[in-house]
Amino acid sequence: MSHPPVQLGTFPTPVEPAPRLAAALGLGPEDLWVKRDDLTGLGGGGNKIRKLEWTVGAALAEGADTLVTTGAPQSNHARLTAAAAARLGLDVVLVLRGSPGGSRSGNLALDGLLGARLAWAGDVDQAGLNVAAAEVCARLRETGARPALIPFGGSSTLGARGYVRCAEELRAQVPQLRTAVVALGSGGTMAGLVAALGTESVLGVDVGALADPAAAVAEFAAPLTTDKITAEGLRVRRDQVGSGYAALTGPVAEALRLAARTEGIVLDPVYTGRALAGLAAAVRDGDVRPGQKTVFVHTGGLPGLFGHTEAVAYAEEGAVTHAL
Ligand SMILES: Cc1ncc(COP(=O)(O)O)c(C=O)c1O
Repeated sequence: MSHPPVQLGTFPTPVEPAPRLAAALGLGPEDLWVKRDDLTGLGGGGNKIRKLEWTVGAALAEGADTLVTTGAPQSNHARLTAAAAARLGLDVVLVLRGSPGGSRSGNLALDGLLGARLAWAGDVDQAGLNVAAAEVCARLRETGARPALIPFGGSSTLGARGYVRCAEELRAQVPQLRTAVVALGSGGTMAGLVAALGTESVLGVDVGALADPAAAVAEFAAPLTTDKITAEGLRVRRDQVGSGYAALTGPVAEALRLAARTEGIVLDPVYTGRALAGLAAAVRDGDVRPGQKTVFVHTGGLPGLFGHTEAVAYAEEGAVTHAL
């Protein structure tokens, strides 16, 4: 069943040239553009807003009064689900991996500010997180609430429709687009872009959130297009994961510094920093070339920087070494 999306973000987001970053990567000054999907507005912004417009639209159509979703403690999607709930006057419960003892900074602080209730699921895998979320929904129903479960990362075929719209904006903003580079987490963002732009035009940089991210992208994208989409046919780089999802790798640290110091653009250590490190690697190995129009899709995630102890220490180091 198809439901209308609910308006949550501010669109279209701008596309900006990035000539100094382009030069630093070995591209020409006109080659690189940044799609500012960090500027989607609500709750600090980020890519998840586009997906939530569809998934929350469906929840409202079903009569939900409470949004429930899952994620890592520093989930941007969880924070933005809380913001969507606040905007619409709904309750929200975030079912998070781990336990309450860790850092409460970054996205977690914003979750609190936005009025989310948190349910800690312990050290579980994705399946365990889904079980915990189903239990939370059952408990909420017993109290008379009408919960709607928003999928992990907001990713589903329905959520990916938000990125079909982003692709339409991109087509108008950068008509000669050759490659859109995007972080690949739960898969919905890349799926929508691939469905609308084609597999050849989208390079996904895996962040290490899923065991088989390409399969997820293909599954979400296939119903949105008549093109045949297979996991094997997608452009996916898996060389930026390092030792795991939240690890700050050397290339990611360098990417954070490069974007900040060439264009004044702040990336995050888990998603967008990895995407830029992947783009740098793609230029080095010739997958992305000078003379072609490349768009770096900035998907947001800034609060996650403040929730990442190692990344904050790395950023602070810059302030120390730059003291006059
Ligand atoms: C800032 C940011 N960028 C990119 C992504 C990846 O998007 P997706 O989960 O749709 O693959 C996420 C979420 O996981 C995110 O929070």
